Amino acid sequence: MKRFGLFLLLSSALLWAASTPVEAQPAATAAPQTGQIATSPHWWKDAVIYEIYPRSFQDSNGDGIGDLNGITSRLDYLQKLGVDAIWLTPIYPSPQVDFGYDISDYENVDPQYGTLADFDRLVAEARKRNISVIMDLVLNHTSDQHPWFLESRSSRTNPKRDWYMWHDGKMVNGELEPPNNWESVFGHSAWQWDAKTGQYYYHRFYIQQPDLNWNNPQVRKAMYDVARFWIRHGVTGFRLDAITSLFEDPSDTDEAYVLGPDGKPVINAFGDKEVKTDKTDNLPEVHDVLRELRQATDAASGRKVVLIGETYLRSIDDLRKMYGAHNDELQLPMDMQVGFINKFDVALFRQRIRDAETEINGDEPLFVFDNHDNPRWDRYQTDAAGTPIFGYGLHHDDIGRVIATILLASRDTALMYYGDEIGMVTTPPARKQDVRDPIGITGWPKEKGRDGERTPMQWDAGPNAGFALPDAKTWLPIPPGYKTFNVAAEEGEPDSMLHWYEQLIALKKNDPALHEGEEILLNTSDDHVLSWLRKTADGEAVVVACNFTPQPQTVSFNLSAQGISRSGLTTLLKTPGAPDPQSADSVQLGPYGVYVGQVR
Ligand code: NOJ
Repeated sequence: MKRFGLFLLLSSALLWAASTPVEAQPAATAAPQTGQIATSPHWWKDAVIYEIYPRSFQDSNGDGIGDLNGITSRLDYLQKLGVDAIWLTPIYPSPQVDFGYDISDYENVDPQYGTLADFDRLVAEARKRNISVIMDLVLNHTSDQHPWFLESRSSRTNPKRDWYMWHDGKMVNGELEPPNNWESVFGHSAWQWDAKTGQYYYHRFYIQQPDLNWNNPQVRKAMYDVARFWIRHGVTGFRLDAITSLFEDPSDTDEAYVLGPDGKPVINAFGDKEVKTDKTDNLPEVHDVLRELRQATDAASGRKVVLIGETYLRSIDDLRKMYGAHNDELQLPMDMQVGFINKFDVALFRQRIRDAETEINGDEPLFVFDNHDNPRWDRYQTDAAGTPIFGYGLHHDDIGRVIATILLASRDTALMYYGDEIGMVTTPPARKQDVRDPIGITGWPKEKGRDGERTPMQWDAGPNAGFALPDAKTWLPIPPGYKTFNVAAEEGEPDSMLHWYEQLIALKKNDPALHEGEEILLNTSDDHVLSWLRKTADGEAVVVACNFTPQPQTVSFNLSAQGISRSGLTTLLKTPGAPDPQSADSVQLGPYGVYVGQVR
């Protein structure tokens, strides 16, 4: 659970064999039609975006690290799954301290992932399959090995000195200390002493990731040029890393401490007294940059490029602002309010989904449950105290179907993470000496780092799970469950998680109500089942019900209250075990059961 804290709070904020057999119904739709490639300014609306962690998706050259040619070789799979776009986490040249989020050259590809020519081929092959490519753009910081920073730290008078956040220390009782108590998200002071020039530099993340000074117009121009460079290489979107962190309060005064229920400062996994982030996160100046960047990318692409924000925010009001007062900032700030509730609380889900429907001016929500920074969706399996039980638990697949359904049957653009579709589980390292993510070393054992959600994609039951050549040593171990949970096995099982995702994605594209219908929450005082209606102006309607409990439930829908006189249902998709309902008057759901039905 610590990692939810790390990214959500600080930033704002086995029995598999025993589980119910899956019995997904074939979707009453045609095969998914990928067709939303960036041909219009709104290509990303209702799209399915698939996050790829390139190190872990497919290795093509035997070094045990995934690469671009590996991704290209798997495009047919992604097309069959039905995704509209892939987001690649950073592939730029990098010392790889933060596995690519420490960039040393923004206009090239790291040799371990391939070449710029490989990238161009990936974009071209993806385009043939109507799949768009979205790049990760890290604007907040560079690597300390980037030539800009090497220059900046070379002397106080270097022309690039002001490109980063340099500051004098302060004397306390005759000792030199950092300017204030601001903390790095990755533990300890956010200020690093530089002996050569006698000042501290600010780093919100690792010491090797110095923050850029976004008050400097040259920094802005340099980064907008980077965006234009990749647009020329065919990308149709950017996922903006840590975008709320671009600015810091110029007063440079201390943050308040976060207090626990006992009124004492909270001690975080790194042993620090945790400080708030009021002076380092979500400052209003971020919006100026977003407007400028949007103008730059609109102009360079004919308004075809989508800007997606990594926006861990405290409230729906803050999220709304990210779209811009005139829809001139992000098209898709990530809604972390819904997917990271991290417990099956029907009322809370209902409230957050309602917020997304009513509090963002009708803009498109971007729902997300999983990424490379947080435990995978198996975290929703919890004990009575709410502590996650990672792995293949009794209701693993049932819970996965609930999550996939909220993600893909809601009125939203859906962001999924590689391996979600085959039910990959969080597999953290068992021993400190096996940890690769540096925060797992500094935070051990409370914080084991993010390796658990970055393990190699499980393609088949063969050596190295088909991720790498048989004799390659993979950069992270292949999780033990791969012989059962892999693409090849699940392709052959009609009731697999993979087919559940495929069918839901097909419905999202092809069923008019699920594609574009408005969303109306139903049975709003039910504490056990989350239900909603998707309905178009010309009368197409679909009901969706998700049982949030391990007990069977029966629900009844009063559709006439929604202006629908019909009450017959045709099943589009359902978890096994439950009978086909005859009407909306009685829909039976098994433990964590899901029902999706067309109203007729
Ligand atoms: C957010 C990214 O998702 C995470 O992986 C990274 O460590 C930080 N930003 C710093 O770039």
